[in-house]
Amino acid sequence: MNDSLLRVRDLTVEYSTHKGIGNALDNINLDVREGQVLGLVGESGCGKTTLGLSIMRLLPRFGRVAQGEILFKERNLLDLPEKIMNKKIRGREIAMIIQDPLHALNPVFTIQTQIIDILRFHKDRLLTTQWKGKQLRNKAINMLEEVGIADPLERLTDYPFQFSGGMIQRVMVAMAFNCNPSLLIADEPTTALDVTVEAQILELLKSLVKRYGASVLYISHDLGVISEISDRVAVMYAGNIVEYADTKLLFENPAHPYTEALLRCLPGAEVRGKRLGTIPGRVPDLTERPKGCKFNPRCPHVMEICKEKAPTMLDIASDHSVACFRYENHE
Ligand SMILES: Nc1ncnc2c1ncn2[C@@H]1O[C@H](COP(=O)(O)OP(=O)(O)O)[C@@H](O)[C@H]1O
Ligand code: SF4
Ligand SMILES: [Mg+2]
Repeated sequence: MNDSLLRVRDLTVEYSTHKGIGNALDNINLDVREGQVLGLVGESGCGKTTLGLSIMRLLPRFGRVAQGEILFKERNLLDLPEKIMNKKIRGREIAMIIQDPLHALNPVFTIQTQIIDILRFHKDRLLTTQWKGKQLRNKAINMLEEVGIADPLERLTDYPFQFSGGMIQRVMVAMAFNCNPSLLIADEPTTALDVTVEAQILELLKSLVKRYGASVLYISHDLGVISEISDRVAVMYAGNIVEYADTKLLFENPAHPYTEALLRCLPGAEVRGKRLGTIPGRVPDLTERPKGCKFNPRCPHVMEICKEKAPTMLDIASDHSVACFRYENHE
């Protein structure tokens, strides 16, 4: 039985930089199951955004898929003509919300103009070919209401700069759900917000995901946020998935030293009076990745083999796999 909406297989993505070519994603495998939220977590620079952009086929100019497949509803997105991606997939079947919504909206047009533009672009999907100005405006008002924007009629004629960060993110959420997408990719949608607004947007997302029955790839550097929203979690380090598990299992029984380190950084793990944990060192640049296990220079459990060979994913329980030599018999 296959209940996965999205299956990423052996995906390797490289960037050409002035320092040379390096893999931002290195042989990635993951599934987003039908109706579930998969959380993707890792520090900045681990490749999370690159994965989201690869699925949308929006990699920057110097990025290239070197290998692999991205199967969405059994079709490899990497084989589709750009015209199909643009007209049928992006924004319709697969929607994306990003961290910096101010860049997603155009500062010189009102909120109304931008929502109506989206409605027009997707009109065949929405069966609104006959819609005229007033109906479009009413639809825009409904959309703002659904995401909890007060006085939507008045707010429609505002420009993006007149909206707070949280309100803009609400507009982005409204636009993302407008076409009832099968898959939503949310790339750090609450990272730029303060904690109260972050909690509100998370609640909004959770309720809409439930109402629309969407599947979600939720990207964040924050394991706390990931625990709030995800059914399953993929932990990413330096372009590899290092642990992959049901959310409850991951939090109760973390297996990879990197996951353990991320958990120690959570506010709840704070020992009274002591500073919040940080992981010593940093994610290596993609042209300077160490040999063997890429986490080895930062790992408290490092062994000789870790500097020579890269560990492969191993099932350690049902719905729980990890890539670490601590779980391999390597004698
Ligand atoms: N356009 C680009 N050109 C070259 N390198 C890039 C580009 N975008 C990202 N990278 C590099 O790829 C790696 C992964 O980046 P990214 O996908 O943004 O990670 P994350 O979203 O987890 O912070 C980083 O080392 C980053 O410096
Ligand atoms: S393989 Fe070795 S270096 Fe890598 S996480 Fe496991 S113990 Fe640490
Ligand atoms: Mg990112």
